Amino acid sequence: MLLTQIPQDFPVRRHRLMAAHPSAVFVLPAHPHWIRNSDVHHPYRQDSCFYYLTGFDEPKSCVVLVPSQTGSDRMILFVQPKDSEKEIWEGERYGVEGAKKVFQADEAYPIEELGSKLPELFLGAEEVFYRMGFSAEMDQIVLTALESQRSRQGRTGRSLLSVQDPRGPVGELRLYKSLEELIALRRACQISALAHRRVMQEVRPGMREFEVEALVDYICRKEGCQRLGYGSIVANGKNAACLHYHSHRDVLREGELLLMDAGGEYNYYTADITRTFPVGRHFSKVQAQMYDWVLKAQKEAIAMARPGVTLPEIHQRVVEVMIEGFLCLGLLEGSPQEIYKRKQFRRFYPHSTSHWLGMDVHDSGLYMKNGQPRPLEPGMVFTIEPGFYVQPSDFEVPREYQNIGIRIEDDVLITKTGCEILTQGVPKERDEIEQLRA
Ligand code: GLY
Ligand code: MN
Ligand code: MN
Repeated sequence: MLLTQIPQDFPVRRHRLMAAHPSAVFVLPAHPHWIRNSDVHHPYRQDSCFYYLTGFDEPKSCVVLVPSQTGSDRMILFVQPKDSEKEIWEGERYGVEGAKKVFQADEAYPIEELGSKLPELFLGAEEVFYRMGFSAEMDQIVLTALESQRSRQGRTGRSLLSVQDPRGPVGELRLYKSLEELIALRRACQISALAHRRVMQEVRPGMREFEVEALVDYICRKEGCQRLGYGSIVANGKNAACLHYHSHRDVLREGELLLMDAGGEYNYYTADITRTFPVGRHFSKVQAQMYDWVLKAQKEAIAMARPGVTLPEIHQRVVEVMIEGFLCLGLLEGSPQEIYKRKQFRRFYPHSTSHWLGMDVHDSGLYMKNGQPRPLEPGMVFTIEPGFYVQPSDFEVPREYQNIGIRIEDDVLITKTGCEILTQGVPKERDEIEQLRA
């Protein structure tokens, strides 16, 4: 179903971007529609930066933003024109008229005209924001237009056009979530929390990992998410030690733990939640000991999350707690300082604690500014996800610790005074989890 109107957030974002870069032109193509085989495509999802600025979700399109010093910024949309024959197969399109009427483009043209129109749109600009390497076809169009413009620009005395990645400035805007964005993100987190809770109740020994994957997908979509925000990780026992495990062919076994990392996407904003729970009813003694160290590290990290603190500071505290745990359980020996300095903790905790979260699970926005980790500010959203993994090849670890991988992941929003945990709705205390499993 085609929209007749879109929210006002999109023009506001474009205006902010262009006001910050008055002598630039932005060229952002839609995400390519990947072919799976012959004329069958993978499911389509728009590029996040393109969507953030336009709200337009069709492939084979491109937005060009042309700022103006006199207050008449322009958005030009290049789209697939209406085509009744093609629309029988691919669905209804907005076409050139819809691009203007619904998406408020100042001008709109068929996508085939991009190459011929770009040189004139580059006139007078000093820099072009375009993500080189996005697609060979688009690179060719933009490079040709650049060269044609550069050859003329020299004679005007103006500097030659430089090319930069738009993910820099657009990512900077996306890093600070607006109230409207937070509504979508909170909904994604609520639905995903509910899905995690239900999966915790429904999992039984003998189910297959891909069955659990289907269950979390179903619940998220049934509750209103359009899709999941990333490929879920559903890992039984030792599979959890593989950080991006995805084969999902294994069977869930009583006595082992199940790690599920899954998040629904609601109106282009995704949650990112991990919980680890027993496939049976209870954590074993060793599983519980390991779990409690991860939970302690996660809680301490959440307690630190407030304006002014940096992500590396939070990660360092998590690592300190985990090292204490590894020493306490006898899995490492030596002084905590040496273990930290030599990075020996990476044997059991090889990833970092946080990443930005928003339209993409690993969201845009720089982690460093002026060579320094950036202090957290209100409106930033990120994950806190410590883990404890024993690699199946690590035979030096006592037998009872083998085949165990644990991660606990929540999503937090920095507020003026601290943080809001967006994924509160999924239990992580052991007794609460065991109650659900009962
Ligand atoms: N779900 C991917 C991650 O946690 O980073
Ligand atoms: Mn994550
Ligand atoms: Mn995750």
